[in-house]
Amino acid sequence: MPHCQTLDTRTGLVVYFVITRVGYEEVASMIDTFVGRTADSLPPEFDIIKTGRGYTMAGWDFSRAELAAAINAHQMLNPAMELGTNACPWNCSFCFTESPDNPDGAKRRLTNEMSIARRLQLIDEAAALGARSINFVGAGEPTIDPNFWQLIERMHLRHITPIVYTEGALRLTDRAFVQRLYDLGATVVFKVNSLHDEAYQNAIVAGDGVRKNPRSENYTERRNAAIDLCMDIGFHRHDPTRLAFDTIVCAQNAGEIFDLHRFARRNNIFILIVNYLPSGRSTDPLHGALSRAEQFDLFAQLARVDREEFDLELASRFPYAGGTPCTIRGMGLFVKIGGRVLDCPGESESLGDLRENSLAEIWGRARHITRALDGGCAPREVAWAKQRKQLSIERT
Ligand SMILES: C[S@@+](CC[C@H](N)C(=O)[O-])C[C@H]1O[C@@H](n2cnc3c(N)ncnc32)[C@H](O)[C@@H]1O
Ligand code: SF4
Repeated sequence: MPHCQTLDTRTGLVVYFVITRVGYEEVASMIDTFVGRTADSLPPEFDIIKTGRGYTMAGWDFSRAELAAAINAHQMLNPAMELGTNACPWNCSFCFTESPDNPDGAKRRLTNEMSIARRLQLIDEAAALGARSINFVGAGEPTIDPNFWQLIERMHLRHITPIVYTEGALRLTDRAFVQRLYDLGATVVFKVNSLHDEAYQNAIVAGDGVRKNPRSENYTERRNAAIDLCMDIGFHRHDPTRLAFDTIVCAQNAGEIFDLHRFARRNNIFILIVNYLPSGRSTDPLHGALSRAEQFDLFAQLARVDREEFDLELASRFPYAGGTPCTIRGMGLFVKIGGRVLDCPGESESLGDLRENSLAEIWGRARHITRALDGGCAPREVAWAKQRKQLSIERT
């Protein structure tokens, strides 16, 4: 009878199994049951939490020990959800929440959006699965959803940190609005492609489509005023911080990245410097996107800045330059506003639909992804590999 020997990379155990009767998946699952994932098997960067430099943000501050325990208990710590309407008055040409079939049309409310009752129930279901935070990433601009406060208040009630991703200019210039977010324990993540290049930043939110009624306000000016207001109220005076920037790096803004990074470090702001996600409007590579080599070279330079100027020792191989490794894929799922559930916003695997299954049932299907958590970005790696293959085909 043929036997197979394999080394389990997490435990160092040599495992023999009969190849004709059980597969490696089952053996790995048996090892999980008896030994489980250990803290040592996770990247040490997860333990860089309180730095006063914004290395991570409130809601993503999971230590290796906490993560190992959550993996072994299959606890869903950190999902990403489109809990709000798809509507957004801006029209970024790279928006990952918008269908690539609508490359430059406006972002409108969809006919199949989940009801508010279902969305609130979803928060309860996530809480029951152990969620400590929810990344509220759309589908459009979260803060303009008519039920925005009901959603935030439900998360607060369930002891879940709301992580609100926002363009910032529409609602966050209002002090009472921002104060309420602060009082409800939210972390705020601003879209920041540039802090100072108004022409570039304003053109991004205006998008490529021809609009009947283009917005006339100066987006950059209003968003920067909103950032100042959040700082005045004190989101960045927490450790880990409750203030973050989401910054897509590409050829057009690469020159500003070092200044942005230093500004964020000096002000205890978590900065997620990322490449385009291979999903939505950026499913196909966009003009100005960095190659894998360019991105990792830039990340290595930022890691040097961290080491030399901010006393932070870290690797530079994760999807967020100079920031904590990723936990959304593995310790969470990505829920679309219509109910479709994927393993992450990079959309590599469709796992089910909330119109047919509960969140718990779908979460059970992600066990293999959770078990393999390494903080990296599998969907981006797959997209880069595809691009390399395409390039080599074109050259032959
Ligand atoms: C989808 S938006 C929704 C929230 C809000 N409307 C905003 O723009 O901040 C959430 C974050 O994802 C970023 N984002 C959008 N499309 C992206 C893409 N294709 N790749 C990477 N990040 C993207 C946005 O810039 C924003 O910071
Ligand atoms: S502001 Fe946000 S939701 Fe609106 S188009 Fe831009 S990325 Fe998409």
